[in-house]
Amino acid sequence: MKNRKITSIDDLSAKDIHSIAELAIKFKKSKKRIAGNKTKNIFNLFLEPSTRTTISFELAAKNLGYNSVNINFEKSSLSKGETFNDTMDTLMSMKPDALVIRDKNNFSPMNIAKKSNVPVINAGDGTNEHPTQALLDYCVIKEIFKKKKIKIGICGDIKHSRVAHSNIKLLSKMGYQIHIIAPTYFLNRNELIKINDKIKFHKNLNYLEKLDVLMMLRVQKERIPKDAKNMMKSFKKEFCLQNNHLLNKPYLMHPGPVNRNIEISDEVLDNYPKSLILKQVEMGVYLRMACLHYILK
Ligand code: NCD
Repeated sequence: MKNRKITSIDDLSAKDIHSIAELAIKFKKSKKRIAGNKTKNIFNLFLEPSTRTTISFELAAKNLGYNSVNINFEKSSLSKGETFNDTMDTLMSMKPDALVIRDKNNFSPMNIAKKSNVPVINAGDGTNEHPTQALLDYCVIKEIFKKKKIKIGICGDIKHSRVAHSNIKLLSKMGYQIHIIAPTYFLNRNELIKINDKIKFHKNLNYLEKLDVLMMLRVQKERIPKDAKNMMKSFKKEFCLQNNHLLNKPYLMHPGPVNRNIEISDEVLDNYPKSLILKQVEMGVYLRMACLHYILK
C-alpha cells in the first residue's frame, strides 16, 4: 500500500475527515496520554515561524509516546546555505517514521511526498494549504453543532491564506454553506468557484448576523510586502470586527496569530462571549494526535 499522507484536503475522503475528527474528539474527552505505542520518530521541519502548530505537533507526538524531533530554519544547515533538496536527503537518510513540514513555498510537502516513502503531513505550504488547521476547525465546529449543516462565513485575506483554501475544500466536501466576506484585493474568486460553485460572496460585514460561525483570517502581510501597509489600512477601516457587527450572533474563530485592531478589535478579542479562538488552540493538539495516528496506522 502507498504511504498515507495529509498534504492537502484532496488527500482525504469525507469518510477519512469524519473518522479523524471523531478520533480527535475522543482523544480530547479521554485527555489521556497513550502509552505502549512502539517508538516512532516524528521529524517536524518548520521553515516559517509558528507557535501553535509546532507546539501542538510536538505535544501530539509525545502524547502518543513517540519521539518528536524539531528542526527550524535557524537551527538547520539551510541557514548556512545548504539547498532544500540536500537538507531533505540528509533528513531522510536518518529514516524518520513521519515528516511534518511547513514551508514558504507552495507544494513543497506534495513534492517531498512524491519522492519519498515517508508519510508526510503538510503544516502549511505558502499560500496554498494548511489541512490540519482546517481539520481542527472542523472538529471545533462539530463539537458544538454535531451533524447540523450550518452557515459558515470566512472573512479576510482569502487570496493569500492557506487556512482559507483548506477550509473551503473541507467544508465543501462536508456539505456546508460557505459565505466569503472579503474586499476584491484579498479575493481569488475564480479559484474558489472551481472548488465550489455554490459559494456566496459578500463585500462587507452586513451579513454576519445570519451566520452560525465566522472565521476571521489574518492579513498575510509577509506575503504581500509591497502593498501590505495600504491593504491593512483599508481592510482595518472596513472589516475590523467590532461588537456591533457581531451582536452576539455567530461563534467567532481565528487560527491565530491575530493582528489586533486590523482583523479583530481589542473589545471583541478580549471579551466576545462566543469566541472559540482558544478552543481551536486546545483542539490542535488532539487533532494532530489523530492525524499522526491516521498516517502511521
Ligand atoms: C496560520 C498559518 O500559519 O497559516 N497559523 C496557524 O497555523 N495557526 C494562520 C496565519 O498565519 O495567519
